Amino acid sequence: MRCLVARVNYKTLIVICAVFTLITVLLWNRCSSELPPGPPHQLRAAFTPEAEADADAVGADSPEAPPVARKVPYEEIECLINEDTTIKGKREGGEVFLPFSWVEKYFGVYGRIAQYDGSERFEFSHSYSKVYAQREPYHPDGVFMSFEGYNVEVRERVKCISGVEGVPVSTQWGPKGYFYPIQVAQYGLSHYSKNLTERPPSVELYDRAEGTAGSPSPWTVPKGCSLTKLLDSTRPASTRQFSAPDNCQGISLALGNSRDFVLSFDVKFLTNGSVSVVLETSEKGPPFVIHYVTSSLLLAYSDRAVTYGIGARASWSTVTRDLLTDLRKGMGLSATKVVRAVKVTPRRVTELLLRGSGFIDNITVSSTAHQAAFFCASRWLLSNQDERGGWPIRVTRKLGEGFRALEPGWYSAMAQGQAMSTLVRAYLLTRDPAFLSAALRATGPLKRTSEQHGVKAVFMNKFDWYEEYPTSPSSFVLNGFIYALIGLYDVAETAGDKLGREAGVLFSRGMESLKAMLPLFDTGSGTVYDLRHFVLGTAPNVARWDYHTTHINQLQLLASIDNAPIFREYLKRWKTYLKGGRAKHN
Ligand SMILES: *[C@@H]1O[C@H](CO)[C@@H](O)[C@H](O)[C@H]1NC(C)=O
Ligand SMILES: *[C@@H]1O[C@H](CO)[C@@H](O)[C@H](O)[C@H]1NC(C)=O
Ligand SMILES: *[C@@H]1O[C@H](CO)[C@@H](O)[C@H](O)[C@H]1NC(C)=O
Repeated sequence: MRCLVARVNYKTLIVICAVFTLITVLLWNRCSSELPPGPPHQLRAAFTPEAEADADAVGADSPEAPPVARKVPYEEIECLINEDTTIKGKREGGEVFLPFSWVEKYFGVYGRIAQYDGSERFEFSHSYSKVYAQREPYHPDGVFMSFEGYNVEVRERVKCISGVEGVPVSTQWGPKGYFYPIQVAQYGLSHYSKNLTERPPSVELYDRAEGTAGSPSPWTVPKGCSLTKLLDSTRPASTRQFSAPDNCQGISLALGNSRDFVLSFDVKFLTNGSVSVVLETSEKGPPFVIHYVTSSLLLAYSDRAVTYGIGARASWSTVTRDLLTDLRKGMGLSATKVVRAVKVTPRRVTELLLRGSGFIDNITVSSTAHQAAFFCASRWLLSNQDERGGWPIRVTRKLGEGFRALEPGWYSAMAQGQAMSTLVRAYLLTRDPAFLSAALRATGPLKRTSEQHGVKAVFMNKFDWYEEYPTSPSSFVLNGFIYALIGLYDVAETAGDKLGREAGVLFSRGMESLKAMLPLFDTGSGTVYDLRHFVLGTAPNVARWDYHTTHINQLQLLASIDNAPIFREYLKRWKTYLKGGRAKHN
């Protein structure tokens, strides 16, 4: 990063010159070449790039030189870049400094001034993302890769968490929003992983009808409304039946929680109605209200009121909502693909209000509810799998110039794999066979080629590959393929020798391909995202650092279940690339 390198210490030289002021220029030149190198910052004008000392300039810089000259150790210097552009740099003796803003762009590196130990320092890094440590051998009921660090709901391309299904609605490829199976699975897997890695939540129970005989009801029931404790015929315990017709303001329950913001309740509506929460926030002015109404509306926002449809809810079900996410997504609602960033934070959940009539029970406010989110994702996958075992993606996807666009209805090996990983975990938690058979059926599209509406490609007529994007021609995206392998492993391990045999075969074939083809993804200083440079003969699609680290994290997971030397060797090298390492050149 220096445009000129010439470190010669002339400090001692100055002293010599001062003492022997009458010594000839010739002699002086000879002694300079015998001086040892050292810190150059004391000398200003004796810079001699080609070792051609300018005698006059040096002579002028005697110890009697005006002090003002010494106070300016840095000088501007023009730097010629690649023989075609020039930029301004700074020179300090023999060292030249280029502006970091230029360095950053030219080399694609990162740096910032940070606070450290009460003072500032500059922190430089070659790449921006972090590799996670694979804690222990991967297991189908364990943490999924590094997904405990994922936070799917805060992504700006997540419109909101739908009230009916309880899963993210994506705006990745259009502002209208739709369910993207990969995102739904990632939402499930991240909450599953957080459940295993975080501290148990604090849970505050505000009302449960059972076992409260004799204690006063915490509810406020205005005139015209009614609230009774009764035994619902479909439930073993008593619940609260409420009736709050239009002419009554609503039945309210004081909550007063200023620590936690995840609301949960069991509900069954007999008519249309709503459950609303009043929230004090960091914003000045009246409180915000979030309404959960019995409709299919996705999300609306106006005048400090956020509304989510939660469906008819005509039979008992649990509604669990993260009020912080619901509030921010409501306020950030926009007509574009991007949810506006909103800084508001809830300060206190003050009360809950019921309208319409039905039954309610088990009202809690907690710090987190990871399992509830995980099961919403698992159930969505269960009820949205099609007859081929796939989760069709309902948007057009163009991977890039040279690839035919994928028309709505395509399958993705990554969606299939991550759905398998989610469903297997739901099965292992519940032992409900429906989850396992859905995971087994999810292998369907992996057995059919892309031309047959599947996701399988074959590389050089030899190696099976499960395509994240089943394009024509094939694209061989690495990370999506590995996610498919992980899903297959989860199914094969969980379903056992007989039921899981097919998944096991698909997994071993895939692993064989991976071991053979891994070298094709190595650029010597990073990795490529796919093999378009081979398939299309275009420039390689170099993986961004976060994809490079995903490749590493995925290999770490596979290395924990398969000790093939190629995984260890590639991991070692790919990690060095993050710190500027490069493969040897010739
Ligand atoms: C994880 O789920 C279990 C079962 O629902 C629960 O008891 C536990 O508190 C949860 N832990 C976290 C951190 O969510
Ligand atoms: C709720 O309202 C919708 C739309 O007005 C109506 O079609 C539906 O029948 C109502 N549901 C109940 C349970 O009253
Ligand atoms: C409320 O929670 C209790 C204890 O978990 C449970 O037995 C009961 O079925 C729940 N009520 C409803 C209506 O789901």
